[in-house]
Amino acid sequence: IASRLVVDRDFVVADLDRRVFGTFVEHMGRCVYTGIYEPNHPDADSRGYRKDVMELTRELGPTIVRYPGGNFLSGYNWEDGVGPKEQRPKRLDLAWYSVETNQFGTNEFIEWCRALDIEPMYGVNLGTRGPDEARHFVEYCNHPGGTALSDLRREHGHEKPHDIKFWCLGNEMDGPWQIGRKTADEYGRIALETAKLMRSVDPTIQLAACGSSTHEMATYGAWEDRVLEHCFEQVDFISLHTYFENRRDSTAEFFGNIEVMDLFIKEIVAVADSVAARKHSSKRIMLSFDEWNVWYKARSINDLRKPGWPTAPRLIEEVYNTEDALVVGGALITMMNNADRVKTACLAQLVNVIGPIMTEPGGAAWRQTIFYPFSQASKFGHGRVLKSVIESPTYEAETFPEIAYLCAAVVDDPATGITTIFALNRHLTDEMDLNIELRGLGTERTLDQALELHHTNMKAVNTREAPLTVAPAVNSRVSVEGEKITARLKPGSWNVIVTT
Ligand code: AHR
Repeated sequence: IASRLVVDRDFVVADLDRRVFGTFVEHMGRCVYTGIYEPNHPDADSRGYRKDVMELTRELGPTIVRYPGGNFLSGYNWEDGVGPKEQRPKRLDLAWYSVETNQFGTNEFIEWCRALDIEPMYGVNLGTRGPDEARHFVEYCNHPGGTALSDLRREHGHEKPHDIKFWCLGNEMDGPWQIGRKTADEYGRIALETAKLMRSVDPTIQLAACGSSTHEMATYGAWEDRVLEHCFEQVDFISLHTYFENRRDSTAEFFGNIEVMDLFIKEIVAVADSVAARKHSSKRIMLSFDEWNVWYKARSINDLRKPGWPTAPRLIEEVYNTEDALVVGGALITMMNNADRVKTACLAQLVNVIGPIMTEPGGAAWRQTIFYPFSQASKFGHGRVLKSVIESPTYEAETFPEIAYLCAAVVDDPATGITTIFALNRHLTDEMDLNIELRGLGTERTLDQALELHHTNMKAVNTREAPLTVAPAVNSRVSVEGEKITARLKPGSWNVIVTT
C-alpha cells in the first residue's frame, strides 16, 4: 500500500511539552519494593536503589514520574513514609490488600528522582483525607524552613525544599473501587478547597484535578463538567486515564484504541472549554494523561489481590508482546499530535506492575517490548510538533469506524535542525511505501537514522532468558532527496526516521 505524509514548517500544532514522556511509580505489587528499591540486591547502591533499574530508567528516558499512587494514594498517610526507617509503621494497604512497610517514602522517592534528573509528580490523598493533610504535605515538602513541618523535613536530612511543582488532587475519585469515592459535586468541592490551601502554602505549584477513570465510565463527560464547574479557577489540568485492551484478540481491532484515545482527548478538551465558555473565561485547562498503557492480560482477581496480606506480591505483571508495543507507539503519536492540550502524560507504570521494565528479586532486569517506542519517543521527541497531513488507505473496525493504516507524528527541533518522523504501519500483511514531504525545512536534508520495531509474530515477547526477541533494528529502505523522504515500512511496524 502507498501513503503520503506532508508537513510544513509554518503549520505548527504546538511546542511539545517534554512532560508527556512521564511514567508512574505506585506502591503496588513490586513496583517500589524489588522494583526500584531493593536494599539486599547485589546491584543496589548505598541507599537501596537498584542500579540496574536506574540504568534502564535512564535509557527509557521518563521526564516526570507520578508517585505514590494510584489507588494506593487514597488510603495513604504521607507521614508514615518519612523519618527514621525503624520507626515507620507497617500498615494495611486496602487498595491492593498488601502490607505496606513504609521503608520507602517521599524523601527516598525525591532522592531517586534527583539522581536520575527526573521531575517528581506527587499526589495528595483525597480518599480518606482532605485539605488539612494536603496543605501539611506541601508545607513539609516545599516550605524553606522555620515551621514545624518544614523543619521536620530538614531534620530528616533535606535542608533544601523539594520544590515539587506538579500535584495531583487525589486519584480516580469517580471509580466505585476507589477508597473514599466521591460524587462529582463532592469531589469538585473538596478539590477546590484543597487546591486553595495548597496554593496558599506554595503559589508556584501546578494542580491536576481527577477526570474520568476511563473513557467508558457511566459518568464520563458529566463528571469533568461538574468537577471543573467547582474547581476551574484553582486547577491547571484535568487528568485522563486509559488502559488499552485486546479483548477480541485481533490486532486490527486493537489498533482502534489509538483512535479512541484521540477522541477521548478531543472530547475532554471540548468539555473543559465549554466550562470555560460558561464562565466567560479565556483560561484553558490542559490535559494530564497521567495513567495510560496496555493492560488486560494480567487483570484477573488473582492478579489484583493475593491472599494473606503479603508485602510486595506479584500483582498485574503484564508481559508485553509485539502488538502491545505497536499500540503504545500509536498512543505516543496521538499524544504528540495533541501537543497543544496534552501537556503531561504518564505511562503506567515503570517497573514490574504493567511496566516497561521487569525485574526478578535479587536477579536480572530487562526491557519489555513497550520499552522501545517509549524510549525512542522520549529520545527524539524534542521541539515542536508539526501538523501532519496524511493520505492513507483505511479500514473499518468495531473499535473505531475508520482507521488509516498510517499513523504518524512529526517533531521538528529548530534548535538542532533535527526533524523526526514517528510512523506506524497498521497494515498487517502489506508493506507500506511512505512518501514524506518536509516542506520548508531545508532542501539539503540528510538521514541520521532509521529504526524499526517489527516481529512477524504479534505475540512475541521479551523474557529474562530471551530479552531481545522484540527489539529495534535498522531500516535500510529509507532515502532522502531534498525535502522528500521515501521509506518502505514493514507490515505491523513502528518506525522512527531521524533527519537533519
Ligand atoms: O495502575 C494501576 C491502577 O490502575 C492504579 O492504581 C489506578 O489508579 C488505576 O485504576
